[in-house]
Amino acid sequence: MADKDKNNNLLNDLNARREIAKKGGGDKRIESQKSKGKMTARERLSFFFDGGNFEEIDSFVRHQSKDLGLDKNVFDGDSVITAFGKVNGRPMFAYAQDFTVLGGSLSLVAGKKISKIMDLAAKNGSPIVGFNDSGGARIQEGVDSLAGYGEVFVRNTTYSGVIPQITVIAGPSAGGAVYSPAITDFIFMVKSIGQMYITGPDVVKSVTGEEISHEDLGGASAHTALSGVAHFVFENEKDCINQVKRLLNFIPANNVENPPNKKFQKEIVQIPELRNIIPEKSTQPYDIKNVILNILDDNDFMEIHANFAKNIVVGFGRINGQSIGIVGNQPAHMAGNLDIDASDKAARFVRFCDAFNISIITLVDVPGFMPGVNQEHQGIIRHGAKLIYAYAEATVPKLSVILRKAYGGAYIVMNSKELRSDLNLAWPTAEIAVMGPEGAVNVISRKEISESENPDETRKKLVEEYKEKFSSPYLAASRGYIDDVIDPADTRIKLANALEILSNKILENPPKKHGNIPL
Ligand code: HXC
Repeated sequence: MADKDKNNNLLNDLNARREIAKKGGGDKRIESQKSKGKMTARERLSFFFDGGNFEEIDSFVRHQSKDLGLDKNVFDGDSVITAFGKVNGRPMFAYAQDFTVLGGSLSLVAGKKISKIMDLAAKNGSPIVGFNDSGGARIQEGVDSLAGYGEVFVRNTTYSGVIPQITVIAGPSAGGAVYSPAITDFIFMVKSIGQMYITGPDVVKSVTGEEISHEDLGGASAHTALSGVAHFVFENEKDCINQVKRLLNFIPANNVENPPNKKFQKEIVQIPELRNIIPEKSTQPYDIKNVILNILDDNDFMEIHANFAKNIVVGFGRINGQSIGIVGNQPAHMAGNLDIDASDKAARFVRFCDAFNISIITLVDVPGFMPGVNQEHQGIIRHGAKLIYAYAEATVPKLSVILRKAYGGAYIVMNSKELRSDLNLAWPTAEIAVMGPEGAVNVISRKEISESENPDETRKKLVEEYKEKFSSPYLAASRGYIDDVIDPADTRIKLANALEILSNKILENPPKKHGNIPL
């Protein structure tokens, strides 16, 4: 009887401790969190994991610091909740910073908690998702908190390309708090709630004199449209978390698994609409997303970086159930020219797909690299080289369809045959040449044009001749630089057939420590 009482007491004690731990920074701070329209860390994890069920670990961890009043500010679990469970039936690991505990600031033990859950995720070969809501390094802890960040950064880096890493910015993410997300594969931001900056508006003002709000400096618009730091923005936290789960459906749990393919129940048929997308005039824009949606199963496309470098479109979809990455030049924005941001955006996406065994389909309509002093001086050479490097190094199945323009260096960069692409198709509208007809004729026939009786007539005639000879897919096809010219309506069928066969592809790069991609 006495034993039973003792056991009951122990259990009551455990439950009481757990209840206290679950309150984080306490009722008042939880209310304050909610008054800002934010979910609590625990609510975020409940909404993320299937059925709201997750196994929390380290809920009794406490910081050991005594300085600057920290001895009176001790909370069970400290400023982060770490957990595992299932998402869409698949094992998943996550952490959520708890702003109610000292502003979610990262202590040494919080860094160690995050590191422990990351190690567990990596050992288990499962993705890790972090919900960030933090004032950065815990100032009172000094160098200890910086060491906490170091522990996290080294794991972000070590596990990059091993397990997918996703960050949700659901609150301030200041100082050191921004660099762990920056190493992860995808950053999701919640509008008005999430902000990222290395120093806030006050420091900016004192150093540079610039006055700017938190939102304008580091809000979702700044990072999804201008800096390109973040990939997604959503209106509210629930939409955001649902989209994280959607993204996870396209990607494998780790780098030795294949992506989660679905059984596609319908027959793969011709899409006649694809015959009418390319405008008659070759300078006229059109929306590449019409092509993308038409070739994907159920027209389902998850676009990444939708607001950044709109001249190139990247994202995930499926063809005949197989999860694929799509890269497409966007003629509706800057004529689809490749610039610095587009190169960075596409290169990073190609490398993600390659790291995680996701086949890449490239839709080409590119007049070239963006000319201009600004682009040259900002390093278009260095950035454009990233895209070449990414495509050339990728060993996953790579397929291309040239829809219209494929000029010069940009033709080579966009997954040309020589970059070890597996299947290169072209529509009859494809123009594969060193440069556009007008530019080419002006260079190679300048003398002939200027000396002719009617220069305009001569130029027109030469442009037509050039177009006939070079601006078609047949010269490239005659040399084997493209594998076939196809009816646009057959694009989905051709890609589906090739993807099925290429799923057995084996190609390995030579052993090396790592390459030296131009960063
Ligand atoms: C300790 C912190 C903290 C921090 C916030 N708090 N940030 N405690 N260390 N870094 C505490 C506050 O004192 C407060 O405690 C509680 O969290 C809530 O903060 P508020 O300021 O009241 O909240 P809010 O008004 O919403 O403002 C949030 C904020 C602001 C914008 C994040 O707190 C802020 O600017 N914090 C500092 C951000 C920063 O400069 N971080 C850089 C750290 S250095 P009480 O008890 O009053 O509720 C760094 C370098 C690492 O990170 C480099 C590694 C490479």
